[in-house]
Amino acid sequence: MRFDILTLFPEMFLSPFDASLLKKAIEGGLIEIGIHNIRDYAPGKHRVVDDAPFGGGGGMILKVEPVERALQAILPDREDALVLLLSPQGEQFRQDTAEELSRHDHLVLICGHYEGVDERIPHYLADREISIGDYVLSGGELAAMVVVDVISRLVEGFTGNRDSVLFDSHTTGLLEGPHYTRPRKYGEWKVPEVLLSGHKKNIENWRRREALRRTLDRRPDLLESATLSDDDKKILAALKNELSE
Ligand code: ADE
Repeated sequence: MRFDILTLFPEMFLSPFDASLLKKAIEGGLIEIGIHNIRDYAPGKHRVVDDAPFGGGGGMILKVEPVERALQAILPDREDALVLLLSPQGEQFRQDTAEELSRHDHLVLICGHYEGVDERIPHYLADREISIGDYVLSGGELAAMVVVDVISRLVEGFTGNRDSVLFDSHTTGLLEGPHYTRPRKYGEWKVPEVLLSGHKKNIENWRRREALRRTLDRRPDLLESATLSDDDKKILAALKNELSE
């Protein structure tokens, strides 16, 4: 899978992609990432990338020309790449968006900056506009890192343990329940007995119940769209009862 990132601040990407699993995936050739400085594509001696908005108002607007030129250089005939613009006005990036985007082999991410971007960028150059949440970052760079990270995890071979991706919070439609590791007893703090029992079915049931409990407690909104079995519904009814007691 290949990502090309267009940014005014390429140096921001150096360390996030140089650690942990992303580094390993890049070194192993599973993921390729190209970072491109939009300024390199701005014409003129001063390589101007932004300008004041028509109609007045504050702030500087990212110009369309350098972005178009950068895209032409990276994708001479647009190939099959999907072009995304990161902006707070975009559709919300969720786990299912990541799953959908991970089916593309090549994504190009344009990081918006300053007060905004010339509307011809989302209108004519980007296929989709993506927001990572209802808050405003100082630019699209951190958002692009989030998008690359979330999608990369979904690439086969990225994590050694496929189950850790399949049972992730949000992938299943529920939050994940709690995890424990050694020691069994830390002072008075104990690991739930069932996890030490070696009884697979009981452990699986306990995990499902705790995922339901946590989702009910922290993100009840997710239960409306989660796929729930009859057993899940019974467990939820019991958990709601417990809560109301
Ligand atoms: N740029 C600024 N804020 C953003 C957000 N919430 N998501 C994506 N890009 C952004």
